[in-house]
Amino acid sequence: MQTTVPAPGAKALHGAAAGARPDRPDWTIDQGWSRYTDAEHATWRTLFDRQSALLPGRACDAFVEGMRRLPIGRDRIPEFERLSDVLQQHTGWRVVAVPGLVPDDVFFDHLANRRFPAGHFIRKPHELDYLEEPDVFHDVFGHVPMLMNPVIADFVQAYGEGGLRARKLGMLPQLARVYWYTVEFGLVRQADGLRIYGSGIASSFTESVFALDDDSPHRIGFDLERVMRTRYRIDDFQESYFVLDDLSDLLRLAEVDFGPLYDRIRGLPEHAPGDVLPSDRLWSRGTGCHHARQGAAPGIAKA
Ligand SMILES: [Fe+2]
Repeated sequence: MQTTVPAPGAKALHGAAAGARPDRPDWTIDQGWSRYTDAEHATWRTLFDRQSALLPGRACDAFVEGMRRLPIGRDRIPEFERLSDVLQQHTGWRVVAVPGLVPDDVFFDHLANRRFPAGHFIRKPHELDYLEEPDVFHDVFGHVPMLMNPVIADFVQAYGEGGLRARKLGMLPQLARVYWYTVEFGLVRQADGLRIYGSGIASSFTESVFALDDDSPHRIGFDLERVMRTRYRIDDFQESYFVLDDLSDLLRLAEVDFGPLYDRIRGLPEHAPGDVLPSDRLWSRGTGCHHARQGAAPGIAKA
C-alpha cells in the first residue's frame, strides 16, 4: 500500500475538511505540541526510523542537506515554531499548522506568502502506509527539508501565485499536475543516479522503493506541457514519474508565462497516467505490471 497525498486542485480534495473549519480565516490553528501523546510521538519515531534507513542513496542531495540543517529528529514530532525559525533564516518560509486539507484559495495564499500549511495530526499506527490527508509526517518530513533549498522555495511560492491565477482561468487541474509530478512525485537526475525529491515519495516507505527500483512505472524526462496534460493516480503508486535534469530547471518553470500555455492546451486531449508518447524522453519504459495486477484504474484523478 502507499501513502495517498492529495494534491491542491484535485477534485474535492481541499473541501474534505469542511466540517473542521477553524475560526481563523486562513485556516491556521495552534499546533498544540504539548498535547501530542507518547503514542503519537512513537508513531513519528517509527516512520522517521524507517525512512531514515531507506533514503540514503535514494533522496536527492538537497533533501539530505535540508534535513541535516533542520531541527527534525527521531524522538519527537517537531515543533513548527522551532522549525520555522531555522527555515525562515534560510529561505524565508515558515510552517503553519492546519487541521487537514484546506480550500484551494487558502492553500495557494499560504504558499504565495511562503507559509507552508502542515497537518498537525499524525496518522494512526494502522495507517503507517496509507492515509488520505497529509499528516505531520508527510508535510514536515517530506516537504520541509526541500523548502530549505532556494530553488524549491521559489518554485513553491510561484506555484501558490500561479494557483490563484489558474483558478480564475479554469486551468487549476492542469497546473495542479505540475505540482503533483514535481513537488509531490518528482525524480531528479544526479551524477550518481536518479534521486527522489518529491515529498509524496520521500515520506512513503513503499513508494521510495517503487519509484526508483520497480520495473513497473515509466520514468520520463520532464516536459511541462506533457505533464500538464497527464492525469495522475491518487489511490496507488504513480504509473509514470517525471525526471528533472537538474533541480534548477524548476527556476525556469517558475518564470514561464502560463497564459499562452493555457490557451494552447485548452481543449487538447489528455494523457492517461500510463501513456508513453513518441515525443517522450524515456529514462526507462515501465512494464505496467503493478497496475495491471491491481486491475482497472478506478482511482485515477480526472482533475
Ligand atoms: Fe504534500
